[in-house]
Amino acid sequence: MPPRPIIIDCDPGTDDAIALFLALASPELDVRLVTAVGGNVGLDHTLRNARALVGLTGKSIPVIAGAERPMLGAFVAEPRVHGHNGIGGITLPDGPPATPGVASDAIRDLLRAAAPGEITLVGIGPATNLGLALATEPALADRIAEIVLMTGAWAEGNVTPAAEFNAWNDPEALAIVLSCGRPVTLATLELTAQALCTPTWIAAQRPLPGICRQTACDILASVPPSKRLGGRGTPQHDACAIMWLIAPDLFTHRPAYASVDLTHGPGRGRTVIDRWGKTPGPTNTTLLDTLDSAAFFAKLADRLAALP
Ligand code: BDR
Ligand code: CA
Repeated sequence: MPPRPIIIDCDPGTDDAIALFLALASPELDVRLVTAVGGNVGLDHTLRNARALVGLTGKSIPVIAGAERPMLGAFVAEPRVHGHNGIGGITLPDGPPATPGVASDAIRDLLRAAAPGEITLVGIGPATNLGLALATEPALADRIAEIVLMTGAWAEGNVTPAAEFNAWNDPEALAIVLSCGRPVTLATLELTAQALCTPTWIAAQRPLPGICRQTACDILASVPPSKRLGGRGTPQHDACAIMWLIAPDLFTHRPAYASVDLTHGPGRGRTVIDRWGKTPGPTNTTLLDTLDSAAFFAKLADRLAALP
């Protein structure tokens, strides 16, 4: 199989950093473009971090700035989990300069140049850049093979009782992506809770060589253990979206209908996910259900060895 061409839209972000390393270390993927969005921290940081992380891998991949704020409303960051700079306060050497341009334009340019069904979009931040690209030129959706999103939850949220952070940050953009007519795969909080990185795993990685692995350990160790998940570790939300593309056999999944709450009350950003076929008509997503956690972390460790 030739490597799958993908665009990664991200807001690094401690777990985005691990996802980027995993993607850039994986021969199954041909990462054509990395776009940054304001999310976990402001765009100035997410762009700098994306450039620095790509730079550490030694790969030559364009990194382009995207939206600073969601389509509606104010921008709100999440520094409690990701630190003031998005990567736990860790200072990385500056990466190659950003490619000039704007993310949503660059995504459309790449889609326009592609064959039907050629490009996979991976969204691991608020969906603003993807939503803008698809809203501006919806016909380009036919160039998309699959959209894989880390977003949403079918039970409770992590930023409000109802909503997961990425969905809550730009629900209007997520609604555009969910309704674009191409297959969407969802890694929700219920799935990503199964990718819990423990201090034991980090300690086992520490003595192993590689600047990327050491950076990954530093970043992972900076994240406070998740109270929501019993303080046992930190969920690697975003790497789940990448792992689905390189090792789908580690997952179980089911078809589901997903929509997002666009009201301005306490339900805003909640993803309503019908896991039991109660919604008439066709489903619009593949919901990732379970993950082989041991195999996930074994593969992550293995892939980090392929990086400098
Ligand atoms: C998602 O929000 C961010 O905090 C993480 O990077 C992840 O993409 C989890 O809710
Ligand atoms: Ca993210």
